[in-house]
Amino acid sequence: MEVLIGTADIHRRIGELGKQIARDHPHGTPLLVGVLNGCIFFVADLMRAIPIPHELDFVSVSSYGSSSESSRAPRLVKDLEREIGGRDVILVEDIVDSGHTLSFLRDTLLARGPRSLRIATLLDKRERREREVPLDYVGFEVPDRFLVGYGLDFAERFRHLPYIAAIQPSELQPDPADSVPEIAR
Ligand code: IMP
Ligand code: MG
Repeated sequence: MEVLIGTADIHRRIGELGKQIARDHPHGTPLLVGVLNGCIFFVADLMRAIPIPHELDFVSVSSYGSSSESSRAPRLVKDLEREIGGRDVILVEDIVDSGHTLSFLRDTLLARGPRSLRIATLLDKRERREREVPLDYVGFEVPDRFLVGYGLDFAERFRHLPYIAAIQPSELQPDPADSVPEIAR
């Protein structure tokens, strides 16, 4: 496992994104829409970095399961709890890979008539894009490797790591989940 982005760098960058989001929403209360489950740490830290009132909701989209292949036919498995007509909405995602998930979500939410719809992603795996999606707030551009930590998992493992690391799924031992390296904290 190789650490690509340490905890301090993640927090510093999220601080910048939070201020940028506040500047872009001078007239109201944006609604952050976290894309479960990968968004959890990012959306929680981002909220604490946005110095204006804002609200939170979640969606969940069927995707990877326990494989590392991208989902080309995303499906909404948990919808929003509220209407978004006329609202400033910000989709909050952990990583954009092929772009299929976000482009599906973007179309789905735009059909409901928000006043604005922006996208925040912690990571952008740009080389892998198959569907173009406009990204308004990007934490870091990352290489085409399988990444875990800070919400990103491999078959539900490694999600809790406080940094972003690259792994080689084919080289994983069966049960290393409880021996995570104490690096980059
Ligand atoms: P996309 O539809 O291909 O853009 O996939 C987006 C989703 O795939 C993200 O929300 C992640 O949940 C997952 N994903 C993409 N790349 C990685 C990765 O390197 N590690 C873990 N999950 C990933
Ligand atoms: Mg995700």
